[in-house]
Amino acid sequence: MPARSLLDVDDLSPAELVAVLDRAVAFRNALPPRDLLAGVPVLNLFFEASTRTATSFTLAEQRVGADVISFAPGASSLGKGETIADTALTLYGIGVRVIVVRHQESGFARRLADAFEGHVVNAGDGTHAHPTQALLDLMTLRQEFGRFDGLRVAIVGDILHSRVARSNIHLLSAMGSRVRVIGPPTLIPAEAPKLGVEVFHDMRAGLQGADIVMMLRLQKERMQKSLVPSAREYFRFYGLDAAKLAAAKPDALVMHPGPMNRGVEIDSAVADDPVRSVIKEQVEMGVAVRMAVLDTLSRTYRRNVA
Ligand code: NCD
Repeated sequence: MPARSLLDVDDLSPAELVAVLDRAVAFRNALPPRDLLAGVPVLNLFFEASTRTATSFTLAEQRVGADVISFAPGASSLGKGETIADTALTLYGIGVRVIVVRHQESGFARRLADAFEGHVVNAGDGTHAHPTQALLDLMTLRQEFGRFDGLRVAIVGDILHSRVARSNIHLLSAMGSRVRVIGPPTLIPAEAPKLGVEVFHDMRAGLQGADIVMMLRLQKERMQKSLVPSAREYFRFYGLDAAKLAAAKPDALVMHPGPMNRGVEIDSAVADDPVRSVIKEQVEMGVAVRMAVLDTLSRTYRRNVA
């Protein structure tokens, strides 16, 4: 039986999702035992740039006592033409039991998980999924609102290229929240209505009644051609400033997965507003959520080998 992986949010049942959040809260209040994953070799394989995700995974792994291996995949044999299957076999043979992977190709995490006998945790694959980000967003929402049911969440900006948006749409909808997406037609995926979300192209109309405004970066590195006129023009229509935020509920909260492009999708005054912005809180949840995910998956591993 292959070990359990977290490739997207639907790899966990709603009950398991709540259990992961509970465990993350417990780990945030009191650090877990240092030996939770003692002796388990965990490999961080980041083919794409990352600041908060890579750092918080590494810290989470260290805090649960794993044997952490981080290496730049540019130096790996994949670049020499080795197949993913052979790489997976080699890594397992060396002793690696968990791989945390980020890759620019959608579906890469699944391909690796299909070939690897240990656990794979998807730290972002192309435009497809970023489950631990969605989990830490959920943890932030639970802390702020104490519920998900009936919450109105507006996700704004470059939905087309955002794995954060996709994982959040799935997760929040599964938890009973009502999700809308707002952006220019060029940045809204054609399949959006099929995902069960409402689509808006006008920011003020889309923000009406929203409890949460989740802003996204323009992911230029994923755009084949220019899909927005200019940063200034984009900000005028879709950049979140105090005036546009006034269209949402009076106490609506602002989120952003980072990295932020201030002045492009969000105004500094809103991003740094200590009352309305929970962007700092999101970052703070990252280590605890990732410790809880590693713990949950590795328990399955221990059970499997027993
Ligand atoms: C996001 C990502 O890499 O998908 N960042 C993150 O992990 N917090 C969002 C982005 O790149 O804009």
